[in-house]
Amino acid sequence: MKLYPDNHLSEDQAKLIHIQAGEVFTPRTPISNSELFAGRWTEINQLVDAVNEVGLHVVLYGERGVGKTSLANVIPILIEVFDSKREPPRDSKRIAVRGNANSTDTFSTAWEKVFDEIYWTEDAPSVGFRPTPGVRVVTLREAYGLINRELTIEDVRRVLAGLPGSVFVIDEFDRLPKPHASQFTDLIKALADSAIDTTVMLVGVAETVDDLVRDHASIPRALIQIPLHPMKLKELRIILENAERKLQITFEDDASDRITFMSQGRPHYTHLVGLLSVRAACERRVSLITIADVSKGFEQAVQAVDHTISKLYDDATYSSHSDALWKPVLLACAVAAARESDPIGYFSPSAVVEPLSTVLGRQVQISTFNGHLGEFCEDKRSMLGRTGQPRGYRYRFRDPLVPPYVLMRGVSEGMIRAKDLNSLMHAPKSTVFSTLPQRPS
Ligand SMILES: Nc1ncnc2c1ncn2[C@@H]1O[C@H](COP(=O)(O)OP(=O)(O)OP(=O)(O)O)[C@@H](O)[C@H]1O
Ligand SMILES: [Mg+2]
Repeated sequence: MKLYPDNHLSEDQAKLIHIQAGEVFTPRTPISNSELFAGRWTEINQLVDAVNEVGLHVVLYGERGVGKTSLANVIPILIEVFDSKREPPRDSKRIAVRGNANSTDTFSTAWEKVFDEIYWTEDAPSVGFRPTPGVRVVTLREAYGLINRELTIEDVRRVLAGLPGSVFVIDEFDRLPKPHASQFTDLIKALADSAIDTTVMLVGVAETVDDLVRDHASIPRALIQIPLHPMKLKELRIILENAERKLQITFEDDASDRITFMSQGRPHYTHLVGLLSVRAACERRVSLITIADVSKGFEQAVQAVDHTISKLYDDATYSSHSDALWKPVLLACAVAAARESDPIGYFSPSAVVEPLSTVLGRQVQISTFNGHLGEFCEDKRSMLGRTGQPRGYRYRFRDPLVPPYVLMRGVSEGMIRAKDLNSLMHAPKSTVFSTLPQRPS
């Protein structure tokens, strides 16, 4: 039965949904509740298989904000669910712990942090400290006599050998200084060679596994590499469906299409715009989120987005001339990046021609904006990176969280109509110019 007949909300109901929406949509916090986790079925299966295979370890890597920590967070929960269905059941309970590395860590301090999450009570390890009267509790390091000394690879190997089935996630592995990071490679070799039943997962921002794990080539059999790609539209749609279920609200189809499409695979934006759109609907005291609520959501999201992103945009498009082309060219680049099927977002200058012609309402040539592309690669407007030779340069956004912002800003500032943007994105390249759309006034 529908909780809100006719989608109408009383003032109290609207206030409650306004607040609860902030618990369901978490644009700045990784997911830690498996009920709110969306998609990633392939990667989950790969990770669970790796945990169940003795001697196999994992590198999970992807761009900033793509969802690495959220996946790493739910893996222990999902493994527990899988284990509970196992016949025969496991002899011992698994220990699964996640720790964050940072630039001041060493191999030893990274493991100390992880080990200090584990307590030893009544001859069994457990995670999280729950004081029980009369029960003596020691940390794992105390139990193994590893206090006040640097942990070596052999120390860590010995501890892990005593925790069968355990899973250790080292998040933000890319921040660990290189010499310490390479000790992890040696550890993984040692664990694999002695067939210890444990899984080490290294998680970090990287485009390729080589960027994350030096010398990984010598341990290929022991290490499975899982790249985390931008989320698919249907996965982003599940984020909204989870919110519909939890909040008893409904997104109209075109409203959810627009949110997921503009997010460009970045779940942060689905959460941010989802939240602001639901709150816009609450203001109208309705539980049905329409495209008008989403437009409001975009306007507010442009204000609410991380300051570093808006600053990048402002610096890149700064001009004392109101008719300068910086903003339209950047918008056209974001469209070009979204339309190219390049896995790391490269686009060619020719891909910018159609979107820019749409934005400006007149046919343009590469020469109209080629200089802008070059300047976007310089320090002053530092927005794009490029690869290839001068006559065949390919460009891409340096920060993958920027293109959705550029698209949202383009629509909310009226540089392009959402309708025109949609048709540009969905039409096969080169066919959208049978009639030039009008530039919005
Ligand atoms: N599978 C998912 N389902 C629902 N929301 C997700 C999912 N993955 C990520 N998110 C959301 O996307 C945002 C970014 O996620 P997360 O922090 O996990 O990414 P990350 O790759 O670890 O980022 P960083 O590179 O900054 O460490 C968060 O708001 C998080 O709640
Ligand atoms: Mg993270």
